[in-house]
Amino acid sequence: MKKILFTSLLFVLLGVSQLFAQVETKSIDNKIEEIIKQLTLKEKVAMCHAQSKFSTPGVPRLGIPEIWMSDGPHGVRAEIAWDTWDHAGWTNDSCTAFPALTCLAATFNPSLSYKYGKAIGEEARYRKKDILLGPGVNIYRTPLNGRNFEYMGEDPYLASKLVVPYIKGVQENGVAACVKHYALNNQEHWRNHINVELSDRALYEIYLPAFKAAVLEGEVWSIMGAYNKIRGQFCCHNELMVNKILKGDWAFDGVLVTDWGATHDTKEAALYGLDIEMGTGTDGLTTSSKNAYDNYFLANPFLKMLKSGEIEMSVLDDKVRRILRLMMRTTMDSTRSFGKMTNQQHFDVAREVAAEGIVLLKNDKGFFPIDPAKKQTIAVIGENATRSMTVGGGSSELKAKHEISPLSGIQKRFKNARIIHAMGYSSGASVYGQVLPTKLNADSLKRAAIEVAAEADIVLFVGGLNKSHHQDCEGDDRKQFALPFGQDDLLNEILKVNKNTAVIMVSGNAVEMPWVSKVKAIVQTWYLGSEAGHAIADILSGDVNPSGKLPFSFPVKLEDNAAHSFGEISYPGDGTNQEYKEDILVGYRWHDTKNIKPLYAFGYGLSYTSFKVLSAKTDKSTYKKGDVIKVSCEIKNIGKSSGAEVIQVYANDVEASVLRPLKELKAFNKVMLNPEETKIVTMEIPVNELAFFDDSMMDWKLEAGQFKLMLGVSSQEIKKTIVVEIE
Ligand code: BGC
Repeated sequence: MKKILFTSLLFVLLGVSQLFAQVETKSIDNKIEEIIKQLTLKEKVAMCHAQSKFSTPGVPRLGIPEIWMSDGPHGVRAEIAWDTWDHAGWTNDSCTAFPALTCLAATFNPSLSYKYGKAIGEEARYRKKDILLGPGVNIYRTPLNGRNFEYMGEDPYLASKLVVPYIKGVQENGVAACVKHYALNNQEHWRNHINVELSDRALYEIYLPAFKAAVLEGEVWSIMGAYNKIRGQFCCHNELMVNKILKGDWAFDGVLVTDWGATHDTKEAALYGLDIEMGTGTDGLTTSSKNAYDNYFLANPFLKMLKSGEIEMSVLDDKVRRILRLMMRTTMDSTRSFGKMTNQQHFDVAREVAAEGIVLLKNDKGFFPIDPAKKQTIAVIGENATRSMTVGGGSSELKAKHEISPLSGIQKRFKNARIIHAMGYSSGASVYGQVLPTKLNADSLKRAAIEVAAEADIVLFVGGLNKSHHQDCEGDDRKQFALPFGQDDLLNEILKVNKNTAVIMVSGNAVEMPWVSKVKAIVQTWYLGSEAGHAIADILSGDVNPSGKLPFSFPVKLEDNAAHSFGEISYPGDGTNQEYKEDILVGYRWHDTKNIKPLYAFGYGLSYTSFKVLSAKTDKSTYKKGDVIKVSCEIKNIGKSSGAEVIQVYANDVEASVLRPLKELKAFNKVMLNPEETKIVTMEIPVNELAFFDDSMMDWKLEAGQFKLMLGVSSQEIKKTIVVEIE
């Protein structure tokens, strides 16, 4: 008793950090146990739920700090009011807007992902955030999903390789990454209630690997549960997903945070692994009455059940231990740095990622690069040439310190050209959950654009989607695969007066391209954040040679996408349930296996130079379980400019007892080459990663026999194939 009193007195007198310094030889777990002994039941329960929109309480009596969170994942969001979704109105909370995660995925460059994570983590730290709500790794299943732009594409291997360095970069700052949305939140439509049914194989092979890598390799400190249900139970308190897989099989020692308003039941939340409840509405989902935090599922109702013995105290203690562990790693780590904000270095990282992620899809007769020295008239047409893409989109919205528009980036770089601009089409303001009409007249916008197009030597049509409801935006899905706001029609009219037209596509999703054969060039530019216009100009001018590769397939038409091939029950579901009928055949796995040619394939992207894969080999021809296959290839830059190519290795089990995809990405490497330069690229594939998930054994199974290793520069363009034997 005396010891306890003494310890708590010390907490008060010295503050928590000094006490920790004294006991620093003890392990973190011992420290946690010491603190836990000091806490009252009420204090422990309070730690398990929000006290405001984005914070949870500490224990003021003991000097234990609050936890502050912020969205994520492309920049640190502006301060939100204590108790509403309004902006708090601070003047010191503008940030560096980094490119959206589809762009990061398109770089196929893990070291850039680390730089991105480190920079955004520094901003979060400077803004005194302890948890950054990102990155997102839900798999791209349908091009209609409104939130694909926040994720890392359709391939579990690519997403796994990119999420790990992002987490490490963020967490080096003493800020927890919060990988979201665990799991199967692969559409926004009906996200609050849809129940996802899928095979174990699809779960383990496609939808879990990036989360698993985040936990086991990234050692992430927090995970955010998704809104939807899986096999009948809400994700934030899902026995299978949380207790069995996340905290059991993967031994996750961090905190499971809800998505905002994704908790539905006290007992399930208590027993099935939820640690922190955020955003619950007490008068309807996510629309709370003021200061309702005591009514949260993990607040008074939880306290009551603990007091009555309906829930054991050990359940609460496990949550508090996790929360304290997260605090030790973040807010109670007195050695963490102070962070940095909107410094030039962060804008440079944003620009580098943006330029490296832009994908050149088409480039007839070397349309790009455009020579900046040339005196000519360039028409820049389209609303996206000037529209802010950091405003809107839902929780990933940002108050960017600056955002260079495509038009201004082009104007700055092409000083010798006469740049003329017309909006061409328009849409309403981006307001969450609403589609607002434009106040401008469509016919006059179109007429003006056609006049401008006719006058120009070159037309750059800057279109695509935007951050409004039913576009690339949280809260619901796109309603159509085609471009909105009459853009297809406008583009056709422009092409009638000027054939020298290229498309700069601003979107986080694939779109239908009925004009694909008529335009001279297409550049996929994602949402690029603060440095958007500069990065676009870097590519258009040739200052940077494009090296981005598509992180998801572009189908010709919507029905060519796997999720859309099985009717409504597969997408969007019947209102209650949804079945992932395409199973493991997601993205290119579907296109390849079913022989449905995509418009642009996963892994595809052009360069201003050309490469040749001269030879390829493996270190052995026969391997055993547990071995690592070393694949190498010789690649040469046979063009006239320096550039980078991404060598991709896809595997195929030649004879399997179950259906296996024709190709599965197992390794990649991005290599920079000067003209005439040849390099040897080596990649490693652990043999165990050639296994499939066997539902009948509920385990991974590696079948002996021949495996093809296909080395390519996209999932469709295979340059060399090697056959190896697995014993
Ligand atoms: C989103 C999360 C986000 C949270 C807090 C939710 O609606 O799904 O991704 O982190 O809000 O803004």
